[in-house]
Amino acid sequence: MPLRIELRRDQGRHTVTEGPWIRRRQIAKTWGPPDPAALALVTDHRGEAIGWGLVSPESEIAVRLVNYSSEAPPDDWLGRRLAAALEARDSLGLAAQPTTGLREVNSEGDGVPGLVIDRYGDDRVLQITTAAIAARAPQIVAWLRPRARGALYVTAPTSAAEREGFAPEPLIQLGDPPPAADHRLSFLEHGLPFQAPAPPSQKTGAYFDQRENRRTIAQLAAAHGGPLLDLGTHLGGFAVHAARAGVTAIGLDQSAKALDFARGNAARCGVSERLTFAQGDLFGPLDQPELAGPFGVIVVDPPKIASSARDLPRATRALAACLSNLAPRVAPRGYLVVCSCSHHISGAHLDAAVAGLRGRWTRTLALGPGPDHPVAPCHVQGEYLRVHVYQAREAA
Ligand SMILES: C[S@@+](CC[C@H](N)C(=O)[O-])C[C@H]1O[C@@H](n2cnc3c(N)ncnc32)[C@H](O)[C@@H]1O
Repeated sequence: MPLRIELRRDQGRHTVTEGPWIRRRQIAKTWGPPDPAALALVTDHRGEAIGWGLVSPESEIAVRLVNYSSEAPPDDWLGRRLAAALEARDSLGLAAQPTTGLREVNSEGDGVPGLVIDRYGDDRVLQITTAAIAARAPQIVAWLRPRARGALYVTAPTSAAEREGFAPEPLIQLGDPPPAADHRLSFLEHGLPFQAPAPPSQKTGAYFDQRENRRTIAQLAAAHGGPLLDLGTHLGGFAVHAARAGVTAIGLDQSAKALDFARGNAARCGVSERLTFAQGDLFGPLDQPELAGPFGVIVVDPPKIASSARDLPRATRALAACLSNLAPRVAPRGYLVVCSCSHHISGAHLDAAVAGLRGRWTRTLALGPGPDHPVAPCHVQGEYLRVHVYQAREAA
């Protein structure tokens, strides 16, 4: 008998439009030990099958559905999903850009909830965020190993391990030979050579979700004339791409390690003479003279500022204060590019923060992640990156 999880009567059928997550409070009964290595059949209160899912016994998100069928997924479902994800990336044409830094597996978006695989040239970084995927890590590594030439890092954020109740394995590094302690991840982005730190690092090392936006904003900055201010520059991304397009740029970050990589990337891309970097707090006064402006483009790309709906009032206040500090530094007909990687902050929240600014602003673009970050339909929690471009039309 498979592990079976029955939903409460008042939960109805839990249709596909409600997304793949089943929360603990939706469950009436469980038959069999809730084992993260098992797949569970989820039924409604009458025992009618809803679908099969991965189990996280300790988590508030108790099940993540992998199908909506009465039939169990085939034994090799995981390998099939991984193969489909990798084939889908091949068909994106990124190699022709050339781009070799990309997301190969995007959790629910690729039908493998809890698993991210980012590719850096020949190297790969796996990020595990659920107990069910932690239980399958050896199987995933065994599947990937013959298909991966370079180093393989397996990581698990402590926050996810605590939330899901799995032991965060020590960082696993595989390779033949194994990567050196000072190994750096190298990749091309639209033909430009970048390096990122190997784990432990921010996320998997780089933010590939902004790749297409970095190019779009560089084109915008070149058309306007610049200069560009890149707040939360990390590896130098928006600033390096703008400098490559002929624009003078300044990148700012709080992290000294990120700035070291950003400077290295500027040199690697041959744009150091048009680029400077500064360390600072993007939510602070930003009163260094070189940040006074005016700038043709200001990009604000902060870390996740709202982890839950409860954080929203504080986060939106902080964002509004940051933007009102920056708005007077935008040149006439210049752009304020406001990024948010918090699922709870909607496009409407970004609009509201800008609507409260002095002067007249209009939104010219609403962007998101690139096609290597697919989202399962109706998995609203999978939507997180919002990038709005606002143009200054009238001064205050
Ligand atoms: C979402 S990432 C930015 C990604 C980057 N723009 C890119 O295109 O790759 C956020 C960045 O903000 C930096 N950061 C976090 N808190 C900060 C703060 N208060 N002030 C400045 N930078 C901060 C982090 O070190 C990280 O590099």
